[in-house]
Amino acid sequence: MKGLLLAGGYGTRLRPLTFTGNKHTLPIANKPMILYGLEALCRAGVKEVGVVVGPLREGVVELIGDGSKFGVEVTYIEQPEPKGLAHAVLVSERFLGNEPFVMHLGDNLLKEGVKPFIDLFENGGFDCVVGAAKVREPSRYGIIDFDSSGRVKKLVEKPKEYISDWALIGTYVFNEKIFDAVKQLKPSWRGELEITEAIQHLLDHGCRVHVRFVQGWWKDTGRPEDLLEANQLILHDIETRIEGVVEGDATVSGSVVIGRNSIVKSGSTIRGPAVIGES
Ligand code: TTP
Repeated sequence: MKGLLLAGGYGTRLRPLTFTGNKHTLPIANKPMILYGLEALCRAGVKEVGVVVGPLREGVVELIGDGSKFGVEVTYIEQPEPKGLAHAVLVSERFLGNEPFVMHLGDNLLKEGVKPFIDLFENGGFDCVVGAAKVREPSRYGIIDFDSSGRVKKLVEKPKEYISDWALIGTYVFNEKIFDAVKQLKPSWRGELEITEAIQHLLDHGCRVHVRFVQGWWKDTGRPEDLLEANQLILHDIETRIEGVVEGDATVSGSVVIGRNSIVKSGSTIRGPAVIGES
């Protein structure tokens, strides 16, 4: 199983933060957001990861390098323009070959990680496993319509009319059948090759598409307010880890991470949840 981690796009909703750098390097609880996705892939046992980068690649390559410090082999895949998630799959075909792969959006945080999706794919004989979560504003997402027996009937990208509250999250497992699907696509009304349409193509051609409802929280960090919420979610779950120095007369309470090379000086008070320095 290979991994495909997406770090392209312009991140327009996070401007001005993304005028000068790639949004995936923005920190959540002091860690660049893309590392959450990369670490989730590593924890799931993925050894080869393709990182899709677009014109705004500043910071991503410096951060991840060849992947060796994370225990994976990383290949960078150029996507000259952000023409959609299905386009990101298309430009990655040579890297992915005929192996199944887990695609994870670099701006998505998922408490349970990606392993449950891979396990389902491997044990269930599916052509595609997608994650889904209930959302409050379905018109902002790719939405799943189920039939009365709970099977996926239809997928619609950012529906103008209400269909359901179940949105595709940013984790998908595919086999090589997805390449036929993405090659049939035409750009949508917003000029992108839509992954929802590619999955619809799989459904229409009798492929086995399975939806897994996420357990625990999921956060897509596209907007400024999402960054703040993502910080809260991560901080809520941290466990105390002191790798730096806490001087004698300092007070540290609650869940607190003090990173390597950080010093909490005498007289300071840190009330968790908090992360100081490297996380
Ligand atoms: P989006 O949030 O759809 O796009 P974006 O990150 O460019 O942000 P904005 O809408 O604010 O302009 O992208 C979701 C994820 O997929 C994100 O991690 C970037 C990545 N992506 C690509 O790698 N290539 C693409 O062509 C697109 C559209 C997104």
